[in-house]
Amino acid sequence: MLVTLSANLLFVNIFKICVICVLKKLKVDIFLLLVANKVVLLGKITDYFGFCGGIQSCLLSILLFIIRLLLPRGAITYRTKTLNVAYMSRNSNIVDCGFRSVISSVCELCEWASAERRSGKRIGLVPTMGNLHDGHISLIRQASLECDSIIVSIFVNPMQFGKGEDYNSYPRTLNNDVQLIDGLGLECMYRVFVPEVSDMYPDGFNSVVKVGGVTESLEGKCRPTHFDGVTTVVLKLFNIARADAAYFGQKDYQQVCVVRKMTADLNLPIEIVTCPIVRDQSGLALSSRNAYLTDQQKKQATSIHQSLLLAENIIVNEKCRNVETITNAIKNKILNADNAEIDYIAVADPITLNELKSIENHKKIIILIAAKISNTRLIDNKIISIQ
Ligand code: PAJ
Repeated sequence: MLVTLSANLLFVNIFKICVICVLKKLKVDIFLLLVANKVVLLGKITDYFGFCGGIQSCLLSILLFIIRLLLPRGAITYRTKTLNVAYMSRNSNIVDCGFRSVISSVCELCEWASAERRSGKRIGLVPTMGNLHDGHISLIRQASLECDSIIVSIFVNPMQFGKGEDYNSYPRTLNNDVQLIDGLGLECMYRVFVPEVSDMYPDGFNSVVKVGGVTESLEGKCRPTHFDGVTTVVLKLFNIARADAAYFGQKDYQQVCVVRKMTADLNLPIEIVTCPIVRDQSGLALSSRNAYLTDQQKKQATSIHQSLLLAENIIVNEKCRNVETITNAIKNKILNADNAEIDYIAVADPITLNELKSIENHKKIIILIAAKISNTRLIDNKIISIQ
């Protein structure tokens, strides 16, 4: 135990010296030293530059040693891994954080994940297309609570965009995304996997993963090649990461159903975890595509969530069981907003996604909506329990 601690301390000191030298070069004013997400030091770089070799270094080492002793037993393997340095530039933005957490090579990610697996870690995978918001962050946090090591992939997957869709204009904010993840102070080991299109789909790539049935309705009808692109890239990510669990949002409900079906049909050894929809204060489901909306359009878009609440009220309180009455109420609510267009409103079984003509004798149903607000296509859904 003591030897491990000393080794960790040595590591801390070497790391500390390197980081502080770089910070000084960058003319950074203030820095924060975090150990296991607790602030250990907050100081002016000039004050601390001297501690590398002097008495302050010894004092800092003792301080770190005490903090390490105070950490819970069994947390020892996390201690150096959760050591993070965040620093602020003159304008007080966090400009960079922690260890280089990004891996862009498929081979390198495979190797990293294999090493984690060999050391008995439970690996979680959070596939995303970036432009991260609190919806994505909720998946990352959930994964970090349930896994020892997590991989957040950021890849705008060309294969899941149809002709004329927004592949080229899809918001790409990689620097912000990585800073956001690095700034979360995750307790677990993590890597941000950012592959190149040419690495995921090299010349000659010629395979498609096609799931039948559940892909054919709703989104599948409106975007015929979409789910082939999703399942192909998700299976590739599963194989690269060989994770124990993968985290998806209920926001894209049909996507989770499709991924679950692929996982069951192909006996993939991975647990699929569904996380709840994160909304803003107005009820609008967070989405990277909300960036296309003006403030006025965002207000209009809240009608989608409001229509779901209205439907819930009609079903639960007014005991309405007629699907046509329910969908008409939703339609009216959404079309009340200017520039709104409805792709579909579906009342369906939450497991099979089969559309229902009557909700009599159903304990749980799901209502799924896709609508355009001034050409921005938004989706939302709500599971409703019926007594
Ligand atoms: P993307 O749209 O970036 O979403 C990544 C994950 O975040 C998905 O599982 C999605 O359901 C979840 N998510 C998005 N908004 C959410 C919200 N408001 N609340 C909770 N979860 C939310 O979905 C994709 O990317 C891609 O299709 C992908 C699975 C990465 C394959 O390319």
